Amino acid sequence: MDYLKIHSSKSLSGTIAISGAKNASLPLIAMTILAENSVKIKNLPNVVDIKTLLKLLSKLGANCQFSTNSVVVDTSTINETKATYDIVKTMRASILVLGPILARFGHCEVSLPGGCAIGQRPIDLHLKALEQMGAKINIKAGYIEASTPNGLVGCDIIFDKVTVTGTANIVMAAALAKGITTITNAAREPEVVQLCDVLAQSGVVINGIGTAILEIHGTNTKLLNIKEFDVIPDRIEAGTYLCAGAITKSELTLTNVEPKHLGAVISKLEEMGNTFKITKDAITIYPAKKIKPIKITTQEYPAFPTDMQAQFLALATQADGVSIIEEKLFENRFMHVSELQRMGADITLNGHTATVNGKTKLSGTDVMATDLRASSALVLAGLVATKETNIHRIYHLDRGYDSLESKFKNVGAKIQRLKE
Ligand code: EPZ
Repeated sequence: MDYLKIHSSKSLSGTIAISGAKNASLPLIAMTILAENSVKIKNLPNVVDIKTLLKLLSKLGANCQFSTNSVVVDTSTINETKATYDIVKTMRASILVLGPILARFGHCEVSLPGGCAIGQRPIDLHLKALEQMGAKINIKAGYIEASTPNGLVGCDIIFDKVTVTGTANIVMAAALAKGITTITNAAREPEVVQLCDVLAQSGVVINGIGTAILEIHGTNTKLLNIKEFDVIPDRIEAGTYLCAGAITKSELTLTNVEPKHLGAVISKLEEMGNTFKITKDAITIYPAKKIKPIKITTQEYPAFPTDMQAQFLALATQADGVSIIEEKLFENRFMHVSELQRMGADITLNGHTATVNGKTKLSGTDVMATDLRASSALVLAGLVATKETNIHRIYHLDRGYDSLESKFKNVGAKIQRLKE
């Protein structure tokens, strides 16, 4: 297995090109199941989760021609509708094939994704909505067995909680359903907006895109002709590198970003004393000389994203004063805390709230990545810790960050990927 060796890397400088969004790419790849034509998707990030989903589609019989940052997917050759445990267990977002397969083929079996490090991650809202649309759903031997004897029928769905992949699943199911589906309390994340935009450009009438109430006019099983498109930039990757600029007190410029997707993140970094130059597709951070403490509560978009919580917690260890970070979406998303404490961070956990007493000197040691965003928090800590930091189990990192160590090396960070 690989690990990352990081030495203290103060004052980085230069430009980092941001890759396409992992969390936009996954539903967009699943969406190709709704297409009659071969679909070309560009600006894909070169990360493990994308390869996993393409492997799943290939196992179903689709033809996926993957090159570094793009793929052409032809789903006309799909001859299997069972997404098996061996793949789904490695990436719970595989659940995104449930809605499209059901909509196109009328039956499917998808392994229950199970929980993951950050929480139980139920999918009850996905299943309840599909049942409302006429699906018969059975859970048997760890699989979701779903069928639609009379096809999916549009109806009014109200999500008890905002669910990103739940909204994506139902939008894709509704796209091919008979009649109109409304989704109330829909997710407004940019990744869901892009899915709706691409479907709309492919002839599906969708009203309310970007709002919490979506109205989707189904094509009644008529497949879509989907033109090639670029995946939107990854706002969480971008936010992670902005935190790297802030924590190492470095001026960094990010290119190929969508600044309007980073409103809450930039606003919190400004509160901590950083300033910015922002253009249409680039952001330069001018770091604070003294980092101010911060209060953060994670919520759904457009509020502060849970996927940036770990990175800001690492940054808060270098703030002068007490920061309070509350995680409202997931029940177990503080596993980076114990590793940061081993590096010398002064953090107290009380249920869903972390109190961070800064500024503390961090010292490098061997640490273990536990989930995707926790891994990036450890990288940020390693950049400012004395001595060297070795981050193990970085397969977590490889799921969602494209070429992280080379992007950091290009701006002067002392970071190496080595074999255990
Ligand atoms: C998506 O996960 C993202 N993953 C996550 O990013 C992100 O943290 C999360 O949204 C929240 O923004 C992808 O897009 C692939 P949810 P998702 O359904 O859709 C509860 C990363 O680091 N819930 O919006 O699985 C759930 O338990 C990953 O890139 C139900 O109760 O999250 C959670 O508390 C991590 N029942 C809340 O809703 C359901 O049926 C939000 O979950 C579905 C969700």
